[in-house]
Amino acid sequence: MEKEVHRVGPVKGELRVPSDKSISHRSIIITSMASGTSSVRNFLRAGDTLTTLNVYRKLGVKIEEDGDVLKVHGVGTTGFTEPDDILDMGNSGTTTRLTMGVLAGQKFFSVMTGDESLRKRPMGRVAKPLSQMNAIIDGREGGNLLPISVRGTGLKGIEFFNKKASAQVKSALLLAGLNAEGETVVQEPFRSRDHTEKMLRAMGADIQIEGGSPYVVSIRKAEKLNPVDIDVPADPSSAAFFAAAAVMIPGSELLLKDVLINPTRDGFFRKLKEMGADIQYMNTREKIGEPVADILVRYSPGLKGVRITGEDVPSMVDEIPIFAMVATQAEGETVITGAAELRVKESDRIKAVVENLRRVGVQVEELEDGMIIKGPQKIKGGSVDSMKDHRIAMAFSILGLISQEGIKIKDADCAYISYPEFYEHLQSVLQK
Ligand code: S3P
Repeated sequence: MEKEVHRVGPVKGELRVPSDKSISHRSIIITSMASGTSSVRNFLRAGDTLTTLNVYRKLGVKIEEDGDVLKVHGVGTTGFTEPDDILDMGNSGTTTRLTMGVLAGQKFFSVMTGDESLRKRPMGRVAKPLSQMNAIIDGREGGNLLPISVRGTGLKGIEFFNKKASAQVKSALLLAGLNAEGETVVQEPFRSRDHTEKMLRAMGADIQIEGGSPYVVSIRKAEKLNPVDIDVPADPSSAAFFAAAAVMIPGSELLLKDVLINPTRDGFFRKLKEMGADIQYMNTREKIGEPVADILVRYSPGLKGVRITGEDVPSMVDEIPIFAMVATQAEGETVITGAAELRVKESDRIKAVVENLRRVGVQVEELEDGMIIKGPQKIKGGSVDSMKDHRIAMAFSILGLISQEGIKIKDADCAYISYPEFYEHLQSVLQK
């Protein structure tokens, strides 16, 4: 489905964007490994997280829907059942990689596949260390590409350096570590999102964390995990789109409610502040171990270009596309480097951003691991291709709001992967 977004007046009011995707995935995957029933309030109902729900049901986990609460009846760390068919992971890298870690410790056979985008994404980063832990994993290109099969075994712990600071790799190894003899240690150059560690600790796992850079997490085999009650806050990656709109459109003032501001996730908001944006965290509080705030964002003229380096990337990895849209309106140069991981997301996001920016009249220099944008530039408008990537579709929709002639977005409905209500929410904050 194509969408066309035009220049508009200010965005105003309050908005609670949908719940966090990363925590929602984990609220099923990890609680499925508990001994007992966990409850999950405010679970994100979107393409990717519904994939997780279906997959864990196929692995024998009973998940009941009781109003707006999910009841996950955990089966214990080794209690999953062999699926009788291929597991469909849809578009979801998180479901696939974390589940590989879970399946590595289950003594049965399973096969996973996914959509056209997911079948191109590298899984060797998880398959290789899991194989070193003794799991038997195979797939196209020597186990790098879906379809992938896993035959779980008795695992042994390893020490692993997570060079790309991938939270998915770290999480897969920690979940496998719950079923491994000895200690499983993951080191990363910069701390990636730490929801898995937080949840495992809350569930009583034997997990040690040494902060700083490098960041080191170690885990030991768990006899049992306790169930937990989870209340999922709003997703900062979804809030970023509306914050960007408010910052760029004169007269805007928007209150984004109940947003997760975990420092491994709020890099986008911190960078915008560094550029001079008017962003305030209000009513900061804690929600089941995670920091949460209402974020007040106002129109911010005179933004200044900034640098993004490898160290900044993990805490804003999914926000780089929308960040690039804001950079077109900042004075001076914004240089993004150290972001090569973007090339292996739901689409090649460096290419998708650069090519689509050029289509709407923006000059941008492509780098192997990022891009350079000199601003401020006028956004003429035109047609872009979302490449069926939800974050590209939403980023260019927001850019359409400040374009001269409007932006048409091909396959805009892919927003449902993380944010099914995106276009309705956009309508609701636009002034009539
Ligand atoms: C995620 C981790 C990130 C992020 C993805 C969600 C997670 O990927 O891009 O959208 O929930 O663990 P990497 O871990 O591959 O960087």
